[in-house]
This record gives sequence, C-alpha cells and structure tokens, in this order.
Amino acid sequence: MMNLAVFASGSGSNFESLVNAVEKGQLKADIKLLVCDKKDAYVIERAKNHGIPVFLFQPKNYPTKAAFEEEILCELQNWNVDLVVLAGYMRLIGPTLLAAFEHRIINIHPSLLPAFPGLDAIGQAFEAGVKVSGVTIHYVDAGMDTGPIIAQESVKVEESDTKEDLQRKIQQIEHDLYPTTLQRVIEQMTRRV
Ligand code: GRF
Repeated sequence: MMNLAVFASGSGSNFESLVNAVEKGQLKADIKLLVCDKKDAYVIERAKNHGIPVFLFQPKNYPTKAAFEEEILCELQNWNVDLVVLAGYMRLIGPTLLAAFEHRIINIHPSLLPAFPGLDAIGQAFEAGVKVSGVTIHYVDAGMDTGPIIAQESVKVEESDTKEDLQRKIQQIEHDLYPTTLQRVIEQMTRRV
C-alpha cells in the first residue's frame, strides 16, 4: 500500500472525498496523516471523524519555513509517507520538502492552469468572463501553481452561472478527478518500483 499525507488549510471537502475513496476501495492507499497549518480549519474535524491523525502546526511559532518544514518532514518519515497530496494547503512548499519528496508532491487547483494561478482562481476566472474553466492536477515545483500537469477537466460557464454556481461545478469535478487521478499516479509509481 502507498502511504499518503494530505496537507490542507481549510474546509477539507477534497480531503473528505479522498478519505471516502479510500474507504470504498477506489483509491488503493492509506491516508496516514493530515498536515494542517490552521487550528480552526474544519478539515481537522473531518480527520478526527475518520480517525486520521493530525499534525497541526502554527507557522508563526517557527523562525523560518525551513524550520517548520523540517518538522513536517520528520512526521512524514515517521509515518513512512510515499506521496504528499495538497488539498487546499494555502502555502508554497519550500526547498526542504521539495528536495525530500521530489516528484512526489501533487496539488489540485480550481482552474485550467496556466490560467488563473494563485488565490481565488474561481473568482479570477469568473471576473474574466471565461466561457470554459476547470480543474488541474499537477506535480508541485517551487512556483505558485506551476509544475507538470497530470490531469485536467473542463467545465462550461453558462451565461446564467453565478460565481457560486461555478464553484459548485468545480468542486463536483474535483471530488471525482482527484481520487481517480491519484489512483492512476499510484499505479504508475508501483509499476516503476
Ligand atoms: C479546492 O478548490 C482546491 O482546488 C484548492 O483549494 C480548494 C480546497 O477546498 N487548491 P476544500 O478545502 O478541499 O473544500
């Protein structure tokens, strides 16, 4: 079994969809750990409900990003984590984790990258008036929402759609696309070993 750690900072609907996919046997992996940088994030509740350990840290208690990433790295090693899955983790991954998990950190972003990287991608796309947007899953590198693309799925933006409609459509896609894409990545990784 491949061991995963999910990093999240917010509501955690993607975290939940991954946990559900594991519980249903659609995603053949163990989610060993949730890494969270926000003590009030709802994702922590979700992890507790599923009995998944949480590593909660407060970035402001560390002098540097390298310092808290060293500690995260220790946790990942303790749990024998093979693959890091970002699901709404609102920080850039630094050199410490990138070096230790080269090509083994994956992110989901709610736009068709390279369009609309960064914060509030759905709002950016909506304001731009695009007729098509979507979801991207990609390997993480040092940039903001850059790195090789693994999968994308598009969604039509209808004339009558509000930003909330678009958000709902995108989330629906995310909750299917992330588990199925991760399962594919895991199959490729295990074939290589
Ligand atoms: C998702 O839209 C994801 O694409 C982005 O952050 C959001 C997280 O939502 N990176 P949730 O916390 O999983 O509900």
